[in-house]
Amino acid sequence: MKLKYDRGSVVCTAPSNIALVKYWGKKDIQIPLNPSISFTLDTCYTKTKADFELGDTQTQIEFYFHGESKPSFIPKLEVFIERVKDLYPWLGSLAKLTLHSENSFPHSSGIASSASGFGAMAMCFEKFNSEVLGEEIDLDRASNAARLGSGSACRSVFGGFNLWGELTEDLGDQSLSSQLTDIHPNFDDIKDAICIASSGEKSVGSSAGHSLMNNHVFGEQRINQAKDNCRELLSCLRSGDVWKAGELIEEEAMTLHALMMTSRPSYMLIRPNTVAMIEVIRQFREDEKTPVFFTLDAGPNPHVIYFNESRTLVEQKLLPKLKGLCENERIIMDQIGKGPKILESSFE
Ligand code: PMV
Repeated sequence: MKLKYDRGSVVCTAPSNIALVKYWGKKDIQIPLNPSISFTLDTCYTKTKADFELGDTQTQIEFYFHGESKPSFIPKLEVFIERVKDLYPWLGSLAKLTLHSENSFPHSSGIASSASGFGAMAMCFEKFNSEVLGEEIDLDRASNAARLGSGSACRSVFGGFNLWGELTEDLGDQSLSSQLTDIHPNFDDIKDAICIASSGEKSVGSSAGHSLMNNHVFGEQRINQAKDNCRELLSCLRSGDVWKAGELIEEEAMTLHALMMTSRPSYMLIRPNTVAMIEVIRQFREDEKTPVFFTLDAGPNPHVIYFNESRTLVEQKLLPKLKGLCENERIIMDQIGKGPKILESSFE
């Protein structure tokens, strides 16, 4: 392997994403049991600076989060590097990797940072790869790499709406995400106001949750339901049917949490204020006859999903009501975004 450089520094950002049809359950190394659809966020992102040094010595890794050394992250990074070695063979001669990472969203805000974190890291690896080999950047490969860090991270490498997982024989890929095209303008400025019901540590993490799907009583039905919902949502995204899309989005959020509650052992991540907020959102929609919906990640925080046409109404009348039900009145405002950015890079 002929390399143009043996040192380099890359700074990238990658946003988080919110799933509308949920990925829940996996096999092998981060291969999803069902296809999922998400949109990439804008203001909630991770910024990572990666300093690479190639050589013959044993790999040394340093990781800093907001300037503070975090040795507890190193084992995870070692696993990630081992997994992506086939995609980036120069990792076989990685002597030193220093990573400085920071999130634009507050720590313990209840927003999972694994998607943006591994998205940003994969973009740094991809940029370094393209420079040392003198090749074009390949976002498909970066998406595949991000998946090997955290499944949902593969959807953070592209902006807009994404599909990950095989939906039909010629639509969707199990190992990488792809950006959906021909989206109706009604969805151009889709918004996400993240209402923090609780920022505390979750009782059951995503990895444990995914593995409970292996013998789940509704496992097979869930896979079929997710495929149907992906197909139906895709058709709404193309036709511009925000009402039907909203119905599917809420069904998916409720299903995700119902699957948790019916796992063995059963567990529950929603809180009383999550339920109260859902009721307020549904009542508001009925009273105002305006398309505003919620989704939930693997946590207690409702994401309010709305569109430009109802923006003023939602932001002036609904969000203030929800604020009172949030922890420390915290709502994080976000919207659909364009995906990762390479901010700086240098090589020698
Ligand atoms: O990428 P993971 O392993 O953290 O799984 C994320 C799963 C959900 O956030 C609950 C759903 C999704 O599709 O993002």
